[in-house]
Amino acid sequence: MNFQLSEEQIAVQMAARDFAKNELLPGVIERDDQQKFATDQIKKLGELGFMGMMVDPKYGGSGMDTISYVLAMEEISKVDASVSVCMSVNNSLVCYGIEKYANEEQKQKYLVPLASGQKIGAFLLSEPEAGSDATSQRTTAEDKGDYYLLNGTKNWITNGNSASYYLVIAQTYPEKGHKGINVFIVEKEWAGVTVGAKENKMGIRSSDTHSIMFQDVKVPKENRIGEDGFGFKFAMQTLSGGRIGIAAQALGIASGAYELALKYSKERKAFGTEISNHQAIAFKLADMATEIEAARLLCLKSAWEKDNHIDYAQSSAIAKLFASEIAQRVTNEAVQVHGGYGYVKEFHVERLMRDAKITQIYEGTSEVQKIVISRSILK
Ligand code: CAA
Repeated sequence: MNFQLSEEQIAVQMAARDFAKNELLPGVIERDDQQKFATDQIKKLGELGFMGMMVDPKYGGSGMDTISYVLAMEEISKVDASVSVCMSVNNSLVCYGIEKYANEEQKQKYLVPLASGQKIGAFLLSEPEAGSDATSQRTTAEDKGDYYLLNGTKNWITNGNSASYYLVIAQTYPEKGHKGINVFIVEKEWAGVTVGAKENKMGIRSSDTHSIMFQDVKVPKENRIGEDGFGFKFAMQTLSGGRIGIAAQALGIASGAYELALKYSKERKAFGTEISNHQAIAFKLADMATEIEAARLLCLKSAWEKDNHIDYAQSSAIAKLFASEIAQRVTNEAVQVHGGYGYVKEFHVERLMRDAKITQIYEGTSEVQKIVISRSILK
């Protein structure tokens, strides 16, 4: 077993680290405070090839592996998880879903601008009454011959306002249950598409989360992805890769908080010495380092499985479950190491602690990951 990263993978990691330090760190507190989407920074991220990392260069992507994607997600998430969720949805849900399952015409029209960072995409599965229970889609796509008529509401949509293209999951044949669900590429500017107000969130506050409403939106037949009724399988298969991205995000939030706590513990003095010399702090750091290392290995293992065409539905759920749980613990301890300073914005760890929570909720709650894992090990 080889744990050595390649030179190319290390170069990607370094480039993401530099970008996070130079482009994201200045202003991250203000963006969080003001819930301001990082438009310029995300545009630059796209120009550097981070928005379509795993897409074939012939479609405008960077042609990298999933390991590189995990490394980059960790670095960006250490500093700004609001930016990394935009990056993750665009890479592992939208670009992956289109590259893997769409036809050539759809790829030329939609994947090229998405993978090259000229446009942003969003993934519209969740609904007011269909979150974990994703088969209960109420949004309908009625077959009208040469087009579908789309009606319904989607909730909690990351990149809801900044995206130009939406992957929309909707029910065409309610009597067939999940086998009657389809997936469509819908353009935000089409008549009948309305973007709701931005959600005022606890964490990842500068990310762009909205409800999206569809009223009699005419979706051309050629914008359906895959066979009639393929939508639910599309969503499930795409989400398995999405979970690697969110696991890496949780890992990055944890390692960002840990690095800040480690640095602070070597500077801050109490009882006559640096606090890192007190076992109460040193043991916390040891626990944090251990949990982060375990989460990193789970993320990389799942990424390796994906790159090697091994079924990664179970490993990605395990990685997301574990990394999101340790992100909670590690960020909480990082605030504790900082004492009172940890509770104020200037020291960053309180933001990372708030950001960590969402990783246990989106792309499947921790409970959903346990459904996926338990079914996989019991089958
Ligand atoms: N690959 C392919 N097919 C799959 C699959 C997978 N990984 N997982 C399930 N399926 C198939 C099943 O085989 C089954 O098909 P058949 O009937 O033909 O056998 C079908 O899908 C239904 O599967 P289940 O019976 O297992 O469905 P369920 O109702 O019990 O639900 C679930 C399973 C795991 C809970 C699923 O509903 C789920 O993942 N829910 C969470 C949804 C989610 O993650 N939402 C996140 C929204 S996106 C987001 O958050 C993005 C963002 O903005 C950050």
